[in-house]
Amino acid sequence: MEDLDLTPEDLRKKILDVGSGSSDFARYAREHNLGSEIYGIDETNWETLDGKIKIDKKHFAIAKAEAIPFDDNSFDLVVAHASVPGAYAHTVDRRFKKPPWQQIGDKVIENLLEMLRVTKPGGEIRFSHERRAPGSPWDEDKESLDMSLKAVLEDLKSEDHVTVEEVFQKSFTRDNGISYNLYLIKIKKP
Ligand SMILES: C[S@@+](CC[C@H](N)C(=O)[O-])C[C@H]1O[C@@H](n2cnc3c(N)ncnc32)[C@H](O)[C@@H]1O
Repeated sequence: MEDLDLTPEDLRKKILDVGSGSSDFARYAREHNLGSEIYGIDETNWETLDGKIKIDKKHFAIAKAEAIPFDDNSFDLVVAHASVPGAYAHTVDRRFKKPPWQQIGDKVIENLLEMLRVTKPGGEIRFSHERRAPGSPWDEDKESLDMSLKAVLEDLKSEDHVTVEEVFQKSFTRDNGISYNLYLIKIKKP
């Protein structure tokens, strides 16, 4: 919740968590009486993998972010934590020696447009996004994903008049010695 900069007021809104994993966010909010209108979708059926109990079926669907099974203009807030689109590079099939960045850019667009579709006018999308820190060794994955995302956000700003805010959160260094800056991307639908 901190990572997504969610306030107590936000938690009382109708929220969709895209790539929700085991629905830990919705379950925590509900158990602590913080919010009860938190829905989730994930392409993976974690229940069969980790045995964790899901929230009820009304609030959770096994579905891809590219085809969200909810109506247009349904949610005040659509969030994605450590999932698509900001972390899309992690989902790339590692068998590719050279990941197909054009396709990945297309996927980022598909994800964002779909998230915008289910966001109410006046609502907001929030997701986390890692960028290689300046001066740190090259990381082709991060660099390419960042370029795709920047291009997509520029397109959205000009064509759909959405507003985009990038909030720096923290820097950290992975075991591979590369440092990253973590940003929270906030997209407001007019
Ligand atoms: C690292 S987990 C994060 C889970 C949760 N959001 C959290 O922060 O704990 C990434 C999740 O995104 C899901 N995911 C990845 N790509 C997806 C897609 N295209 N559509 C739906 N879910 C996706 C994966 O199945 C996985 O559960």
